[in-house]
Parts: sequence; C-alpha cells; structure tokens
Amino acid sequence: MAHTFTNYIDGQWVPARSGATYENRNPADRDDLIGLFPQSGAEDVAAAVAAAKKAFASWRLVPAPGRAEILYRAAQLFKERKDRFSDDMTREMGKVLAETAGDVQEAIDMSYLMAGEGRRLFGQTTPSELRNKFAMSVRQPIGVCGMITAWNFPMAVPSWKILPALVCGNTVVFKPAEEAPLTAINFVQTLIDAGLPPGVVNLVMGDGPGAAAPIVEHPDVSVVSFTGSTETGRRINETCARTFKKVHLEMGGKNVILVMDDAKLELAVDGAVWGGFGTTGQRCTAASRVVVHEKVYDQFLERFVARARQLVVGDGRQDGVQMGPSIHEDQLAKVMEYVAIGSAEGARLVLGGSRLAEGAHARGCFHEPTIFADVTPSMRIAKEEIFGPVVSVIKVGSLDEAIAVANDVAYGLSAAIYTQDINNAFTAMRDVYTGLFYVNAPTIGAEVHLPFGGVKATGNGHREAGGAALDVFSEWKSIYVDFSGKLQRAQMDTEQV
Ligand code: UN1
Repeated sequence: MAHTFTNYIDGQWVPARSGATYENRNPADRDDLIGLFPQSGAEDVAAAVAAAKKAFASWRLVPAPGRAEILYRAAQLFKERKDRFSDDMTREMGKVLAETAGDVQEAIDMSYLMAGEGRRLFGQTTPSELRNKFAMSVRQPIGVCGMITAWNFPMAVPSWKILPALVCGNTVVFKPAEEAPLTAINFVQTLIDAGLPPGVVNLVMGDGPGAAAPIVEHPDVSVVSFTGSTETGRRINETCARTFKKVHLEMGGKNVILVMDDAKLELAVDGAVWGGFGTTGQRCTAASRVVVHEKVYDQFLERFVARARQLVVGDGRQDGVQMGPSIHEDQLAKVMEYVAIGSAEGARLVLGGSRLAEGAHARGCFHEPTIFADVTPSMRIAKEEIFGPVVSVIKVGSLDEAIAVANDVAYGLSAAIYTQDINNAFTAMRDVYTGLFYVNAPTIGAEVHLPFGGVKATGNGHREAGGAALDVFSEWKSIYVDFSGKLQRAQMDTEQV
C-alpha cells in the first residue's frame, strides 16, 4: 500500500478537504509509486491563507534575530538530513544524487545566508533637511506570500523564496510542483523541527489550476513568487495586476555558451557537456545553445560529441550514472517533438536523437544526449526552450556575430563565454543581455548569495536568492522623527525656519 501524504495547514498535517489524492511516481521507474499526495482545491488554499494571515499578526513582531535563530537551526537540520533528502529527491524527480545533494546544499547555504540577514536587514538613515530631526527608512514585512515553485530545483528554489520571506517577517502559503511534493514535505518538516510556529508556513499540494490559481487570486495574498513557464507566468502577472499584488516571476530560458577561437577547448567542451546535459537539460539555466567561432568549430564539435556520447544515462540513484530521465512522459514527448522539429528544419543530428527504452531504461522516461550541428539562429530549436538533453551548435565568424546570436532570443537568463582574451570576456559580459554571466564556466551553478534571475521573457525585474530577495518580500517605510519640540516644515523654505 502506498503511503498517503497530507498538506500542512495551521500547524496540522491534514488531507485535502475533498479527500482527493494524486500519484507521484519515480521518473526512472514508473512502477515505483512514491506515494499519494493531496489534490488540493480552493477550500484548502483558503484555509492555508487564513492560517497564514492569522500567524502574520504575531510573526511580524518576533524580532528579526529571533526569526533568524530558527533559520540557523534549519540549516543544521538540512545538513544532517542531506543524504536522505537527496535520495528522496532523486527518486521523485530523477536528477543524479550528486545534483540533488547540491540542491539540498543550496537550502543549507540559503538558510545560513538568511539567518545572517536577521541581524542586518539594513535600512537607510540620512541626515534630515531640518534641525533636530531624524530621517530613516526601514524594511517592513508585507503579509501573506504565495510561493509557487518548479520541480527541477525542488528544495533550492523554495529556499530562495521562503527563507527571505520568513526572515523579513512574512508568512507563507507554499504550493510546490506536483512532481516533487515529497521534497516540499521534507523542506517544511525541517522548518517545523527548527521551531517555526504554526501557521507561519503552510503547504498545499496539487496541480496548477486546482491549488496554485486560488493562491494567485486570493485577496489576502499580498505577494506571489513564481518559478515556472513563461505562459503561466504571464497569466499570473495579468491576474496579479488587477489587485496590485506584488509579483516576482522566474520563467523560461534559452541560455548560451560562446566559444571563441582562443578558448581552452577542453574547458569549453566540459562546460558544454555539463551545462547542456546536467540535470538532463532540465534547468532554466541549461546551455541549450553553443555558439562556436568558425576557426575552432570542427574541432570543438568533434570533442563535444565524443564526450557527450560517453555520458551514462540511467537511474540517478545508481553509482556511475551521469544523466537521469526526463521528469515525465509529457516532457519526454516534448523533447522528441523538438528532435523532429530540428531534423525537419535541416539541422544536422550528430548525436542521439532517440528515446532509450530497452533494458535498464524500459520503465523510465529516458532520452539520449542529443546534439544538433549547423543550427542557424532562426531555427525553432535555436529559439525555443526545450527543457531536455538537446543542444544546438551554431557556427559564427566573430565575437560581434556571437553576441548578436546570443541576444537573438526572447529570453535572458544565463550566458557564458570561453576565451583567454580579457577584451572578449568584458565585451561579451557588457553586451550579452542576461541576468547571469559566466567567464570560462558554464551557464549553470549560480551561488545563493548573488541575485538570481533574468531579463526579457525570463523575468519581471525582480530577483530571488541573494540580498535582492529581501526587496521582493519587504516594503520600505520612510520615517521622520522630529524632536525639536516646535513646528518645523520641510518643503517650505527651509532657510526661513
Ligand atoms: C533553475 O533551473 O530553476 O544556477 C535554477 C543553476 C542552479 C539553479 C538553477 N543553481 O544552475
């Protein structure tokens, strides 16, 4: 009998009001049923929001260093539980153990970072224009925050949102991706064990229309932070605009590695393999385009194909496996559709191109690492996010052309350049329009203490992680204290007073 898991609302583990559940299965072995999880609806969201609203009244007044102490304890618990949490994560979403351990590590790092913020949360003080008057600005919590997250970084991404929200004094309703609810339970249980009071974080599981849409629409939710597709992000943005909810969006990408003619090719090949096929290409930062200078194009391509051909694809919980499955059949079908599109567009398939369905791969959603060469920038495989193990290699004649190709997409999350020439590196760093940029490193692997996010169709101007996340989850209040004991007026002629 599969275990039935429950939501966490107002300090209690409770089933969906309707009693409905859904199955969560291992993408490396569809026969492995992880459990039944609540298929929540608007009534569950309403209960979670009411609990978060009630808890906000007291949580906002807990001194920030006190809130931070809970996050310090959470960091220690995440550390102790890292092996178990990464095994659970690989089982439910497929990426290899080294990567899921890295995902839990991001939650550890983010907990320490935000715990430290509890003793800072710096505001501004400025001299007043007037005598015997103080002028300062402080961060205020906003209220109930709705967090809607994706399955590919199921512990890292919630930590980038939820921990800054908590240290600022907000309360949370968390709707994790349908495909990774067990990791969300592990995350929330750790916060509970660290001492988080009831109602401060509430967990509501289920699908987008059933459990996320009611969060976005709820009048008592003041902030929505979303990681997922650009189409869903657009709908969320439109809905939030109607009631002036603050909204943070982290959406699609079409990231690029530029390989110049003076690059250390071995390093560039490593970067392309890891950036393109790490996490089975299911990162919003995945390097799905590699733009290569014509002078080294053939050499690079040959080495890249040779390296990618050796990748061991399989169940991420087994030793030696380097690339896991796609998350589910629908995602795999999308990958296969793009392989067909690339071939029909005239790109040259130089590696892979097929589903793996024999032997050890028979019960999972596996696809070969796939490389298209001679891709032109206008092809759909060069423009659209695939979210799978498919990399397009594009030939260019100069740095200027490489930068133009890099920018010729709707998205702007991450880009990288491989070069030994500092002038190339700085030119590309300035002119490629993305939120993240790497020199001699792949497009992936952002660290938690810098702002994470993108431009154009990737984001809406906000950032998560780093100190920047505090700007999403707090509002400035400017305060003037007059201790002159008489009527002083700013914006009158100050020379007269
Ligand atoms: C994502 O794919 O949503 O920089 C986030 C990286 C990771 C995060 C990816 N630290 O690749």
